[in-house]
Amino acid sequence: MMADAVFDVVVRRARVATASDVFDADIGIQGGVVTVLGQGLAPGRHEIDAAGRVVTPGGVDAHCHLDQPMDPPARMADGFDSGTRSAACGGTTTVIPFAAQQKGHSLRAAVDDYHRRADGQAHVDYAFHLIVSDPTPAVLNEELPALIAEGYTSFKIYMTYDDLKLDDGQVLDVLAVAREHGAMAMVHAENADAIEWLTRRLEAAGRTAPRWHAHARPMLVEREATHRAIALSQLVDVPILIVHVSGREAVEQIRWARGHGLQVFAETCPQYLFLTAEDLGIDDSYQGARCVCSPPPRDKGNQQVIWDGLVDGLFTVLSSDHAPFRFDAPEGKHPGGQEVPFRHIPNGIPGLETRLPLLYSEGVLGGRISLEKFVELTATNPAKAYGLHPRKGTIAPGADADLVIWDEGEFVLDNQRLHHNVDYTPYAGMTLRAWPAMTLAAGQVVWDGQQFHPRKGQGRFLRCGPPTLRPRPR
Ligand code: URP
Ligand code: ZN
Ligand code: ZN
Repeated sequence: MMADAVFDVVVRRARVATASDVFDADIGIQGGVVTVLGQGLAPGRHEIDAAGRVVTPGGVDAHCHLDQPMDPPARMADGFDSGTRSAACGGTTTVIPFAAQQKGHSLRAAVDDYHRRADGQAHVDYAFHLIVSDPTPAVLNEELPALIAEGYTSFKIYMTYDDLKLDDGQVLDVLAVAREHGAMAMVHAENADAIEWLTRRLEAAGRTAPRWHAHARPMLVEREATHRAIALSQLVDVPILIVHVSGREAVEQIRWARGHGLQVFAETCPQYLFLTAEDLGIDDSYQGARCVCSPPPRDKGNQQVIWDGLVDGLFTVLSSDHAPFRFDAPEGKHPGGQEVPFRHIPNGIPGLETRLPLLYSEGVLGGRISLEKFVELTATNPAKAYGLHPRKGTIAPGADADLVIWDEGEFVLDNQRLHHNVDYTPYAGMTLRAWPAMTLAAGQVVWDGQQFHPRKGQGRFLRCGPPTLRPRPR
């Protein structure tokens, strides 16, 4: 400790990366907030030497599922404790999971329940999106407007999954509320009826192994629903954000919308950059259940389309869509202890901890995207889309001191390295080129490159403001 310390923490000689610049500076931190960026800052009580290292804002993972209530036997492997531990060790310092309304129940009840699940558990800060599955008059006229005013300014709507899906009239109703109250609507775009029809045909032919999941959800069902979501948002004249875009056909719809001046934002996820449908299996092995998620990963050509969309600004954010189910578990990918037809395999893969290292390794160090673009996609834009910027998503005076100091060097990823509560990672065996050497949350070291430093219960609930994203027509 230094006697004449001026700052709580000084990160020295950082190569600071924001969404607009990369520059050398010391970072002075007081009270958990960045107060000064400059050269040769006065001493801090805690000095961190970042010489030669890139420092980015802590990641904002704006699409992850933690302890979301499920129909038994399914149960998510990560709640706010292990989920935010895993996030922090991979450089993510803000998470936005979902308070999901159950049909027949109130939205407010879902939010209250979700707070009980999160209270005292989180190691990093968190906000909530809502999931609207039952837009009754009470939800549309009372609950949703009140919740938006209280800082729950985004919600996801589903065009698939029986327990969550809305019909087009309901989508229009909910979008009208988003417009009137300035909320961000996130849309899961897949055509439910087409999926059900395809699934029944596959089942009738005995095609029930995990790999057939990808055949039940081909790109055209995503393309059609993406087109419909865009048309519905145009009718209401409200921005939307299409989540987890998987490939070319949905990308084409979004480009069309942008070209027509519509405010259609888009999210993609690492699984669409690094996995293909073959990861669900090339034969009838059950191993592929690990990678069953929706929309499913496509092929190498579509991976390139997604990379292109990251580079040219088609995509606004890169999220993990962390949906954690253990593989070898009756509450996970083996429901009731069985190998089951793909229809019954819980959808989703883990990815909170690997999101930033994967994109830094293959995107930045692979020469595909700039550091600024990396920051924009993983921190700044998600913070803007969901009303958390400039407190989150940047390194600037007044912002929370959520920082990632990067270590560049090759290693082979395995699940042992990770801090989630899932018994696999779909990215095992990949050679990565970077991992956080240190993560700071509100100025505190939460990951030092070797060890996790718990700060359970110190993660704060964040009330979100209105979205501040600017449209980028194409
Ligand atoms: O398969 C997925 N993506 N599971 C999580 C739920 C969702 O639709 O995002
Ligand atoms: Zn979804
Ligand atoms: Zn999701």
